[in-house]
This record gives sequence, C-alpha cells and structure tokens, in this order.
Amino acid sequence: MRYSIDKMTLADVPRVTEIERQAYPSTWPSSAYRKELQDNRWAHYIVVRDKHIAEEQLIGSQELEKTRKSRLFPLSLLTNRLPIGLEVASIVGFAGLWLMVDEAHVTTIALHPDYRGRGLGELLLASLIDISYDIGAKWVTLEVRVSNHTAQNLYRKYGFREAGLRHRYYSDNQEDALIMWTEEINSATYRQQFQELKKLLQKKLESF
Ligand SMILES: CC(C)(COP(=O)(O)OP(=O)(O)OC[C@H]1O[C@@H](n2cnc3c(N)ncnc32)[C@H](O)[C@@H]1OP(=O)(O)O)[C@@H](O)C(=O)NCCC(=O)NCCS
Repeated sequence: MRYSIDKMTLADVPRVTEIERQAYPSTWPSSAYRKELQDNRWAHYIVVRDKHIAEEQLIGSQELEKTRKSRLFPLSLLTNRLPIGLEVASIVGFAGLWLMVDEAHVTTIALHPDYRGRGLGELLLASLIDISYDIGAKWVTLEVRVSNHTAQNLYRKYGFREAGLRHRYYSDNQEDALIMWTEEINSATYRQQFQELKKLLQKKLESF
C-alpha cells in the first residue's frame, strides 16, 4: 500500500511540528514532542507516510546523480528501508494518545492540508484505536472544537458520541470543546463495526 503507519521517532519531530503548524491555530513546541517520546511511557505517537514522496525524491536525487555522472542510488532501496531524510520527508500526518488507566485519550490527530480527504485521517484514527486495544484501553475519548465539524464527523463515523462540553477550553479563541467517547471498545458490536470500517478503509486506500 502507498501509505504506511509507523511509531513516531525523535527524528520525525521537526516534520511533525511543521505539519502541526499548518493544522492547528496554536501548537506545541518541538521540545514537548521530544519529552512525550522520551519520558511519557503512557504516550503513543504515530506518523503516516506517503511512499510516493520518498520515491519521487529518490528518483530526483538519482537524476541529479546521473547528471553528475556518478553511481546511481540502488533502486532496491525503494522496497527496503529508506534513507532517514526521505523517511522524514514522507511524513504527511501524525496522531497520538495517552493511556490513563483504562481510557485512551486522543491528544492530537492532524494531516498536511494537501493530504486531507483521502482517508488518511481515518487511517490515523483507526490505528489509534488498534493501539488502544493493544494497550488494554476500554474506552477512547477526546476533545474537539465545537466548530470542527470535519473532525467531529470522522469521530462519529468511528462510534464517538458527545458526552458534554468543556467551556472556553481552547486558549487561542476561548472556544468550547466537545467531549466525545466511544462505547466500550471490547463490546461485540463495537469490534464488529470497527472491523467493517477498517475493511472499507483498506479498499479505499488501496485504490490510490
Ligand atoms: C480532521 C482531519 C484529521 C481529518 O482527516 P482527513 O484525512 O481529511 O479525513 P478523511 O479523508 O480520513 O475522512 C474521514 C471522515 O472525516 C469526515 N470528513 C472528512 N473531510 C470532511 C469534510 N471536508 N467535511 C465534513 N466531513 C469530513 C467524514 O466523516 C469522512 O468520512 P467519509 O469519507 O466516509 O465521508 C484533518 O481534516 C485535519 O488534519 N484537520 C486539521 C487538524 C484537526 O482539526 N484535527 C482534529 C483535532 S480534534
């Protein structure tokens, strides 16, 4: 598949903060991500990569090499691990959660503006829910701006329901946050719906 999900690493942080700046009105400093990755054992962060970006850059660098009449970069690298710079450049979105006892709290989910609307927000959210199963969470919860209907639609699609408001939660514009929760993710109905959504998503992403 063109897109892949990986654990976020320290090397990814500059690219992640670059995308974050384009996705949110206010952002975390890079040091906050580094701290999360290094010191918070309850935090889980992932990135989504587009292999085409890395391939295009690799081909571009091969062309450059050709004109310099030096040895070509081995094409076999495309199917294996990419050079670190290309891996970082191929990040198009990221997401994270904290485990608090048996609740997974989604802390962030964002895509580069050019990559929205093609199922990658869904891929990130589904991956966070998979992580929630792996780490023993029973529920998944999050806060979302009352004006952020796109994100709310995404969350509703994955079974999140409104459970209240946090007044003036966002400091940049004093906007309220909607609190949303899934039902118990281990329930048979949730599991089944989640698996069905993932199958549909897989098909959608394979068509790119
Ligand atoms: C929210 C965000 C992650 C969604 O990612 P995305 O890749 O654009 O969304 P997807 O293509 O995966 O769409 C998944 C679902 O989201 C909803 N959605 C996506 N784009 C939408 C739009 N323009 N209008 C309304 N709903 C939309 C739909 O329910 C969609 O499901 P569908 O395809 O079956 O209709 C992305 O828009 C983003 O990064 N926004 C800025 C950061 C942000 O607001 N993060 C959320 C903080 S709580």
